[in-house]
Amino acid sequence: MRLKDKIAIITGGGRGIGEATCLRFAEEGAKVVVVDKNGSDVNTVVEKIKKAGGEAIGKEIDVTNRQQVDKMIGDIVSKYGRIDIFINNAGITADAKLEKMTEQQWDQVIDVNLKGVFNCAQGAAKIMKEQNGGVLLNTSSVVGIYGNFGQTNYAASKWGVIGMTKTWAKELGKYNIRVNAVAPGFTLTAMVKKMPEKVLTKIRDKSPLKKLAQPIDMANAFLFLASDEARFITGTVLSVDGGVVL
Ligand code: NAI
Repeated sequence: MRLKDKIAIITGGGRGIGEATCLRFAEEGAKVVVVDKNGSDVNTVVEKIKKAGGEAIGKEIDVTNRQQVDKMIGDIVSKYGRIDIFINNAGITADAKLEKMTEQQWDQVIDVNLKGVFNCAQGAAKIMKEQNGGVLLNTSSVVGIYGNFGQTNYAASKWGVIGMTKTWAKELGKYNIRVNAVAPGFTLTAMVKKMPEKVLTKIRDKSPLKKLAQPIDMANAFLFLASDEARFITGTVLSVDGGVVL
């Protein structure tokens, strides 16, 4: 087992990439904390992990709410005494072309994808610094690297995630904390399933591998970066996108 008894907190763990990562980490022996704003999804994932013989607890919180984040981190430290791995995976889209994007759409996406990541990372880093070690992983996107039609807010947030990842790698390395990001390509989750089939076909055709990713592909990338096999990797962005260039 590659994560035996590691305490791993995963935001947006209720479905999609986050769910796959929770299940994969539990298989590898981690004690998983499933964090999501959707309580019934949290319970479903916790039950799935327990049924498969793993260990998990759930926390229904909104990552944009600082008090809820701080309380969640405090609860986990009281229960387990440490946080070994924290994955900032919760993220949203609210698409529109530049001239049509509303201030509300901009604020919503920036709030979850940037402030939510900041809130969680600040809380987790404090604990990891005290325990002199930990792994902080963020979720960027192929869209953060290349930009994408109709995604001004999302592209800005995901490029911002890369900047935060590199900054925190520099600030936290001396405390034995590694910070990296995964930049997923288009992955078959609820987020992508709401895109028009025409657009998805175009993306598939452009990709050297001629297919979209599955959530497990991202889970395996997170697993590698979280494991000791990646002990000399920090400040990097691992593109897991099937070679697609938007
Ligand atoms: P999803 O929409 O299937 O799942 C996201 C989860 O995050 C949901 O369970 C949702 O309830 C939770 N969430 C959203 N806002 C939250 C908040 N404020 N507080 C707590 N939980 C919250 O999304 P998916 O596709 O699994 O994406 C996961 C991450 O991967 C996101 O950061 C997304 O931007 C990123 N990503 C996804 C890609 C894709 O093609 N699906 C491509 C590139 C990046």
